[in-house]
Amino acid sequence: MENRTFAVVENALRIAAEKVESALTEYLSERYVGDTVTAQAMAYSTLGGGKRIRAFLVLEFARMFGASEEAAMPFACALECIHAYSLIHDDLPCMDDDDLRRGKPSCHIQFGEAQALLAGDGLLTFAFELCASNKYVSHKSARLAVSALSSEAGAMGMVGGQTLDLANEVKSYADLRKIYLMKTGALIRAACLLGYFAATDRPHERDIKNMSLYAEAIGLAFQIHDDILDVKSSTEMLGKTVGSDAKNDKKTVLEFLSMKEAEEEETLLTLLAVEAVSDYTDSELLCKLAIWLLARQK
Ligand code: IPE
Ligand code: IPE
Ligand code: MG
Ligand code: MG
Ligand code: MG
Repeated sequence: MENRTFAVVENALRIAAEKVESALTEYLSERYVGDTVTAQAMAYSTLGGGKRIRAFLVLEFARMFGASEEAAMPFACALECIHAYSLIHDDLPCMDDDDLRRGKPSCHIQFGEAQALLAGDGLLTFAFELCASNKYVSHKSARLAVSALSSEAGAMGMVGGQTLDLANEVKSYADLRKIYLMKTGALIRAACLLGYFAATDRPHERDIKNMSLYAEAIGLAFQIHDDILDVKSSTEMLGKTVGSDAKNDKKTVLEFLSMKEAEEEETLLTLLAVEAVSDYTDSELLCKLAIWLLARQK
């Protein structure tokens, strides 16, 4: 992809990330979450880091379907809160046991395990408050958002994927795909859907189907790329310790595909993602984002 196209995506991501950071800073202030040590741990792990890809997807799908940014922002922040909670718990000693996240000590290293658990719990519950009390959308849109977010984040979505990931009983690439669609794809699907629900409370089945195809394809590609970076990148670049999967004897995509095959698979998935949304007016940035994700270095 041309450098100019990369620059367009990076610029759009930077602008969105700044707006999301400022909204999250307000939401994670004393006014909304109090000033306990748990509130501090919630802010520590959510603010000042992360690519904000999920928030960007909420904002961009909302824009494409005609919602205001005001309406989409609480949903975008909700997604980032759930994502941050999933990372806090993912890093705990009983899970991946990782000490570094987003270039800083992981939540449990900084605040202790009990606070890391509580910060995750606090972020998870706060996400639903953000969705339910979004005053810029109809009650029905808020209800659709709460419902989609809970099913994608829960035991049949991200949490279920983490369960299968921990069990580590993967026998084939098909088994692994199932885990990746749940542990990573589900929150990405929630992001796309919540952007849509910021724009409408009368969703069309065809749109949901196209968004799901896009989300599942970039979600799978995203986790494949994450596995590749875990062996190919550096701790400095990633802001998390490389080699985490090998340390935990995790079967990753590289167990079943060569590096070249894994990269080809990512490219194929990206083409599917682009195909799923390219007929929508104003979908260029979502298409470019999918392509940019292939080349991301962190
Ligand atoms: C990391 O997600 C966890 C995975 C699902 C692979 P990101 O790579 O989006 O993490 P941040 O938000 O940018 O730190
Ligand atoms: C995490 O997958 C997916 C989550 C639901 C948090 P990983 O365990 O590979 O994510 P990283 O590499 O720690 O960010
Ligand atoms: Mg993990
Ligand atoms: Mg991990
Ligand atoms: Mg990883």
